[in-house]
Amino acid sequence: MRNSDIFNESKKYMPGGVNSPVRAYVGLTIDPPIIKKGSGAYIYDEDGNKYVDFINAWGPMILGHQDEDVVKAIKETAENEIAFGTQTELELKLAKHICTTIDNVDMIRMVNSGTEATMSAVKLARGCTKRDKIIKFAGCYHGHFDGFLVQAGSGVMTSNIPGSPGVPEGSIANTLVAKYNDLDSVKELFEKQGEQIAAIIIEVVAGNMGVVPAKKEFLQGIRDLCTKYGAILIFDEVMTGFRVAYKGAQSLYGVKPDLVTFAKIMGGGLPCGAYGGRRDLMEQLTPLGPVYQAGTMSGNPIVMAAGLASVTKLYNNLSYYDQMDKIGEGIQKAAEEIGKEKGLPIVVNRARTMMTIFFNEGGKVTNYDEAKKSDVKLYGRFFEHMLKGGIMMAPSQFEGMFICVKHTKEHVEKFAELMRKF
Ligand SMILES: Cc1ncc(COP(=O)(O)O)c(C=O)c1O
Repeated sequence: MRNSDIFNESKKYMPGGVNSPVRAYVGLTIDPPIIKKGSGAYIYDEDGNKYVDFINAWGPMILGHQDEDVVKAIKETAENEIAFGTQTELELKLAKHICTTIDNVDMIRMVNSGTEATMSAVKLARGCTKRDKIIKFAGCYHGHFDGFLVQAGSGVMTSNIPGSPGVPEGSIANTLVAKYNDLDSVKELFEKQGEQIAAIIIEVVAGNMGVVPAKKEFLQGIRDLCTKYGAILIFDEVMTGFRVAYKGAQSLYGVKPDLVTFAKIMGGGLPCGAYGGRRDLMEQLTPLGPVYQAGTMSGNPIVMAAGLASVTKLYNNLSYYDQMDKIGEGIQKAAEEIGKEKGLPIVVNRARTMMTIFFNEGGKVTNYDEAKKSDVKLYGRFFEHMLKGGIMMAPSQFEGMFICVKHTKEHVEKFAELMRKF
C-alpha cells in the first residue's frame, strides 16, 4: 500500500490515524509519510522516498537506525527471554551500569515510558515529603499524566490547547506553574506555599517548547530554594539523558538533583523509562517503603538488552558526543547564515545534540511566552519544503531536532543547500 492509502485507512481505526498526536501533522497541508524502514541516518517511506532523519524517534535513536549492536542484543535476547514477570540478570546489568556511570543516581527503578517515570517520581516525592503541591514550568512537558497537563509543551502546545478535557480540576489543583528561566516566579510560589510544596520538576534543557536551555543561575537558584524549603528537585532527563552528554544535562550545569527520570535512549528504541536518585528516597518505594508503584512489563528483558547495548556503546565511545556536537554546530551556523542572507527571523537554540530552528521575530527564545510568539505557519512551510527535499525534521515548531552518530558533514551540506532554496 502507498503512504496515502495507509494513512487514510488508518484514520478509520485510530483517532486521527495515529497513536500519538504530533505524528498526524496537525496544522500542516500534507499528510505524514508512512515509514517502512530505517538504516543509519536514513528512513524510507512506503512510496520509496528516502529521508535524512533528524527526528530519530524523538531522541532515542542516537546511534542511528538498526545499530548492529542493538539489533544483535534484541535478537539474541528474544531467543531465550521475552517476558517472565520475575527478576532477570539483565535488569541488574542495566541498573548497575546507570547507577555507576551517572551522577546522583544511587538506586533506580525501571518502568515502561517517560510518563510513567515522571508521574512515579512525583508520587515518590509526595510520599517522602508528605506534601501535595508540585511546581512545573510553563512549556515543559513531562508526559500525559493528568497533573502535568497545565501549560504543557509538545503536542499540547502544537495543538494550541490550554490543558485537556478529561482532567478533573482536582488533579491539577496541586500543580503550580512557574515561568521557565525566571527565578522570581519560583521564589514567589515558595514564599506563599513553601510548606506545602513537595517537588519541583523541570526539563533542564527544555525540549518540548522547542529547545530552550535553562540558565545556570536559574537552575542553581531552584536547587537552593528546594534545599531551603525541604522540597525534592526532580530533573526530567527523559529527553536529555545520554543525549546532550552521556551523563545528561545535569553534567553540563553541575547542579545536583534529588531524583532523575530517564526514558528514550536508555531503552535503545524500545518502550522504556526509569527513575532514580538519592538512596534514602528510593528506599521509600515498595517493597522497602510505603510508596506503591509496580509494573507487569517493568524491566522487560528485551528492553533491558537493547538499553544496555545502547548505553554501553555510548559510554565506550564518548567521542561520539563531540562528533555529534560538530554536526549540530554545522547546522546551527548554516541556519543562522541563511537566515541573515534571506532576512528570515531565525533563532537557533541548541544544546549540543538537540536543537530547534525557531522562526521568531523576538531575537531570542528563553521561555514559553517567547516560544509561543514563533511563526508556526512559516515553520510549517519550511518543514514541508525540507521534507519534500528529503530531510525529516519535527513537524512542529515546538519540538527538537535530534542528531545521531550516523549524521555526517554531507548531511549538513544537504541541509544547508535545501534550506537556502527555501
Ligand atoms: C522531557 C520529557 N518527559 C517526559 C516525556 C514523556 O515520555 P513518554 O512519551 O515516553 O511517555 C517526554 C516525551 O517526549 C519528554 O520529552
